[in-house]
Amino acid sequence: EYPLIYRNPLPIPPVLEPKLKITNPVTGKEIWYYEMEIKPFTQAVYPTLRPARLVGYNGISPGPTVMVPRGTESVIRFINNADKENSVHLHGSPSRAPFDGWADDLTFPGEYKDYYFPNNQAARFLWYHDHAVHITAENANFGQAGAYLITDSAEDALGLPSGYGEFDIPLVLASKYYNEDGTLQSVLGEEQSSWGDVIHVNGQPWPFLNVQPRKYRLRFLNAALSRNFALYFVKSSAQNTRIPFQVIATDAGLTTHPVQTSDLYVSVAERYEIVFDFSGFAGQTLELKNFPQANGIGTDDDYEHTDKVMRFVVSSDPVQDDSRVPEVLRAPTAPLETNSPASTGIDHHFRFHRHNSEWRINDVGFADEKNRILAKVPRGKIEIWELENGSGGWTHPIHVHLVDFKVLERYGSESTRGVMPYEAAGLKDVVWLGRHETVLVEAHYAPWDGVYMFHCHNLIHEDHDMMAAFNVTQLSN
Ligand code: C2O
Ligand code: CU
Repeated sequence: EYPLIYRNPLPIPPVLEPKLKITNPVTGKEIWYYEMEIKPFTQAVYPTLRPARLVGYNGISPGPTVMVPRGTESVIRFINNADKENSVHLHGSPSRAPFDGWADDLTFPGEYKDYYFPNNQAARFLWYHDHAVHITAENANFGQAGAYLITDSAEDALGLPSGYGEFDIPLVLASKYYNEDGTLQSVLGEEQSSWGDVIHVNGQPWPFLNVQPRKYRLRFLNAALSRNFALYFVKSSAQNTRIPFQVIATDAGLTTHPVQTSDLYVSVAERYEIVFDFSGFAGQTLELKNFPQANGIGTDDDYEHTDKVMRFVVSSDPVQDDSRVPEVLRAPTAPLETNSPASTGIDHHFRFHRHNSEWRINDVGFADEKNRILAKVPRGKIEIWELENGSGGWTHPIHVHLVDFKVLERYGSESTRGVMPYEAAGLKDVVWLGRHETVLVEAHYAPWDGVYMFHCHNLIHEDHDMMAAFNVTQLSN
């Protein structure tokens, strides 16, 4: 019934080439111009069954990887040749509001929209995905998600394992349901969650990757609709011993220092990058696995094989490895370094809860146009927001657009995990509210004015209708 597990190689999404490089007459910076066509394609996920019809950026899923150096601007023309409307969001970018994928800013079939991105952040792993109102989950499920990497010279100088697709590997996780005939299940009728029983990495169910006995940079992105992961590595021959590795980056790029761990929570939309050293495992196979229900933090449904993710087959030929993981990766990240007064207390409290079979934030859903701006934040202000899981039996990965935040505290009646050391070592744009958890996050609301969304990134919750907005307004002084 399930496709052969660990029998198919891990695909690596190709890097998209710009069509044009021009100079921005206003900023003087180089602009790389790209085009992506959102269109249907078919892929035989189950080789013996009918191919599944998918819809992806340039007809692949995940979409092509965009890779731009810091300071080079980009313009991407997203051409909608699909059968549904879309709105593209570059997740992790402080984009100007008109290019931020506002859920009601729909591009209809036959139309295109040009998006402008400044790419002025330090090196980081962003991702682009659909954000169209009430059909985001369906569009993402059928393939509309891709990686977007900003690179910079400070990171290059560290000597980390490098070379996209060679020793620097994106691992885009997803979890989906298929019909008996091999076609992909729609999630349009779903209102609670879509956990998926087939785990995909880069679009391939349970793949394997041949690796050399050396260090690799592995970049995790959880692009699932609802499923959260608690990842760990074991030897195929010793499944009870978890192998430690080093976390080197979070949503917002490099952590200040590497954080060693042997398991890693990756809720929906989070990115974590690790360096895994295969040098001690020449000639062996390792497995990347997933704790059921994310080790008790989650409430995800599990199936026969959702504890498995992928396999690494380590060659036995010795290799030279000049890469390294320095003890300091970057100066303590300073998004909060500003002239504005630091927050003196909790500025806003948001409760994420279920009400009359709908998902809400402080009793408001995105469809409630009159009330959906839940906060007005003066531009430049530092605020602390308290994010409460008000539906204890469910969990919510919460994403705030525009900003990076620091996770200050995590507490709650059943929570004992606190802030994970790897969460605390960098900045984030998604934080997971596990069972009965409340989290405090601090962010600098800048650099732009505008109305931006914040929401649960369980895309089923987001669509039904756990999404609201905040308005960054200019300081009047
Ligand atoms: Cu990754 Cu509002 O989205
Ligand atoms: Cu949620």
